[in-house]
Amino acid sequence: MTDTSHDRLLIIDFGSQVTQLIARRLRELNVYCEIHPYQNVTDAFVTEFAPKAIIFSGGPDSVMREGSPRPPKAAYEAGVPILGICYGQQVMMHDLGGKVEAGEHATAEFGRAYVKPTEGRPDFVKGWFMDETGQEQVWMSHGDHVSEIAPGFEVLGTSPGAPFAITADLARNFYAVQFHPEVHHTPNGATLYENFVRMAGFAGDWTMGAYREEMIRKIREQVGDKNVICALSGGVDSSVAAALLHEAIGEQLTCVFVDHGLLRLNEAEEVVGMFRDNMNLKVIHADETELFLGELEGQSDPETKRKIIGRLFIDVFQKYANEIDGAEFLAQGTLYPDVIESVSFSGGPSVTIKSHHNVGGLPEKMGLKLVEPLRELFKDEVRELGRELGLPASFIGRHPFPGPGLAIRCPGEITREKLEILRKADAVYIDQIRKHGLYDDIWQAFVAILPVRTVGVMGDGRTYDFACALRAVTSVDGMTADYYPFSHEFLGETATRIINEVKGINRVTYDITSKPPGTIEWE
Ligand code: XMP
Repeated sequence: MTDTSHDRLLIIDFGSQVTQLIARRLRELNVYCEIHPYQNVTDAFVTEFAPKAIIFSGGPDSVMREGSPRPPKAAYEAGVPILGICYGQQVMMHDLGGKVEAGEHATAEFGRAYVKPTEGRPDFVKGWFMDETGQEQVWMSHGDHVSEIAPGFEVLGTSPGAPFAITADLARNFYAVQFHPEVHHTPNGATLYENFVRMAGFAGDWTMGAYREEMIRKIREQVGDKNVICALSGGVDSSVAAALLHEAIGEQLTCVFVDHGLLRLNEAEEVVGMFRDNMNLKVIHADETELFLGELEGQSDPETKRKIIGRLFIDVFQKYANEIDGAEFLAQGTLYPDVIESVSFSGGPSVTIKSHHNVGGLPEKMGLKLVEPLRELFKDEVRELGRELGLPASFIGRHPFPGPGLAIRCPGEITREKLEILRKADAVYIDQIRKHGLYDDIWQAFVAILPVRTVGVMGDGRTYDFACALRAVTSVDGMTADYYPFSHEFLGETATRIINEVKGINRVTYDITSKPPGTIEWE
């Protein structure tokens, strides 16, 4: 638990996929909060934490199952406002004398729904139901539902499948909603959080500057006088992580830049130069191209490739760590989306989409402990923190680059020839995007080289070369994405340039898949 002079909000996590989004909404309101898994939240914990308000998250379980998660009694007795979300609502109703029933087809709801207000507009729904339709779009995702509200509660909003969509015990300041106000699909959801924290009396004085101080304190606490090595990739995440660590522990930090041979054109020189010269950091340039490409030879399965890269990363770090006196920690710029897409919560519905190399690939028994100071943040928040730390704008604005590098942009088997072609094509594509002034409008843009050769004609001759796919997406946090609507003129010009300037490619396609159903990377 953290010692902070700010008012604190406690989020009790019952295992929802989107609990972090609640924290994010609260950070946007400059409210300090901490997420704690329900197993750790005992009566004593609540007393010691002394929250100014509590939120019960959603979760995959059913309150009717014996042994299903519960908040401690002290939560209800703390005398502070509580907001229950989805499972959090059900648990609150169940604990306080209402009824919850198992979902049947008619009452289970997944997806968009519309909530209408009832009579009376207490502060909790201030700013809701304001447009001409008088209703609000919300995102539902529940099997069970409340069938009888607890004594003292009243209904503030209903939807066709959830007669108790918004409920409140105004005397005790307990609020409970069936839907998820924290997700984008509840467009006005942030307003409910705002109303809740204002009613709870939060001053809203928790800023990214404060977050930085907090993180620096946490890093010092965790690391003590030991040395840390930081996995530098040159992307925004590891750059911000390194800058933060450098500020926290100075000389105790050594950055290791692993050149796995899967980097973009000139990337190694640029990154190492930038960190050594601009940031005055200790950087080791580990050229391990042969090791990585050697082990990847002949491998075409995406998960196998990711696992190999993840394993080698750790091996390499350990090797370098052993050479640094007293290095006990490994720092990584793991972000929240990396965590949520790799980890399943107690067998809940959150499935593994991809094993991100910096999470899933970690061996159980690693000789180094992890420091992951960005684990709670989303990409745009990391950028804000980077600005706060004074990193150059050109670095903060860089598109994300995945740890496994070009390996996941080279579907199927990786060969040196393909990598060489891919690097050149990617450089032309990014150059085009910059020339057209589009770089900052795009979340991420890259080329993927396809495992297929196609027939073409150049001059008077036949060609039989690789096809490639251009990818460009817009996104807020990498969790969802839309393809970027380039003009046909831009696409045509870029295709011509790639085919003319890059030997080995004779066909260019543009990937117009959004996420979901696609992912941003090809593997
Ligand atoms: P996907 O392809 O999962 O990508 O839609 C979402 C975002 O994550 C990046 N990405 C990774 N980043 N290690 C990373 O550090 C990884 O293993 C990894 N895989 C994907 C991807 O570039 C995009 O920004």
